[in-house]
Amino acid sequence: EVQSRFFDPSWLKMQPHVPMSFVWPKECVVDANEEFQAPMVDLGGFFRGDEEATNVAVKLIRKACSTHGFFQVINHGVDPLLIGEAYEQMDAFFKLPINRKVSIHKTPGSVWGYSGAHADRFSSKLPWKETLSFPFHDNNTLDPVVTSFFNSTLGQDFEQAGVVFQKYCESMKELGMKLLELLAISLGVDRLHYKELFEDGCSVMRCNFYPSCQQPSLALGTGPHCDPTSLTILHQDQVGGLDVFADNTWQTVPPRPRALVVNIGDTFTALSNGRYKSCLHRAVVNKYKERRSLAFFLCPKEDKVVRAPEDIVRRDGTKQYPDFTWSNLLEFTQKYYRSDEATLQNFT
Ligand code: SIN
Ligand code: FE2
Repeated sequence: EVQSRFFDPSWLKMQPHVPMSFVWPKECVVDANEEFQAPMVDLGGFFRGDEEATNVAVKLIRKACSTHGFFQVINHGVDPLLIGEAYEQMDAFFKLPINRKVSIHKTPGSVWGYSGAHADRFSSKLPWKETLSFPFHDNNTLDPVVTSFFNSTLGQDFEQAGVVFQKYCESMKELGMKLLELLAISLGVDRLHYKELFEDGCSVMRCNFYPSCQQPSLALGTGPHCDPTSLTILHQDQVGGLDVFADNTWQTVPPRPRALVVNIGDTFTALSNGRYKSCLHRAVVNKYKERRSLAFFLCPKEDKVVRAPEDIVRRDGTKQYPDFTWSNLLEFTQKYYRSDEATLQNFT
């Protein structure tokens, strides 16, 4: 058994067998045997202000969020070239020698930096992946938060990465705020209802790199979990591996190059008074291909109260969750979140 907190992926790859700490319980790795029908929502009409098209989008979103909390969007306004550049920059980072990556490793309890096979969330089993995580919040200074993260951690070689990811995060935040409008409309509240809560929030960007795996049926890239955040906007590459646990079975979300996958996180479940579901999902690994994904987690302002709109609570008759703040939940997830107990119920 290897004791190191960091596994060198090139070493792992050479092992005839996956080390025991990467072998997940059978019920977690059972194969997906169906395709998940994540509705495709065309945002083009909504962005143009077309009322009819907006209604169509709203209906699809309402249905998807009330059942599993997953949908896809196209014509989302994010430049495909920018998505391509983000992948190029993340590839350059993950190709660095392990000692350079580890030099910016996440310290226990922190969210930012590099992580190789870390077990600090979701489960005691290790995920077959490497990640790079950094914060994003809007600021109008000359020193945007993402570029300064790259400059201060990786220096000059990654200056361009900082520029690209700053732009990528800005696009994601803009899209996220528009999605909150659609969600508000779909819940029958003022379309700008959630704006203030999220406007100055610090969001999380995570690049996921899943090396190919010699025994993919034993390991998992990301263990089963629900996202604690509000909204996740994910781009997955063409390899595929995102699975959703829906209707009591694992179902795979086939990659669509132009689409982004959006899912509801626990915090938005609370913000919808439980109407919108935060659904269990995972990422599986592959014997022959490495896989990459870009995840943007839209988060509320840390110290603002997360509370479902009065209107909804009145219509539903009961308030499903007590008030909390994103920083309360974050602290909780860092201490206790594990796949087998990872629900908002445990927190509240
Ligand atoms: C995650 O849910 O954290 C990762 C999803 C993916 O890589 O597809
Ligand atoms: Fe997730």
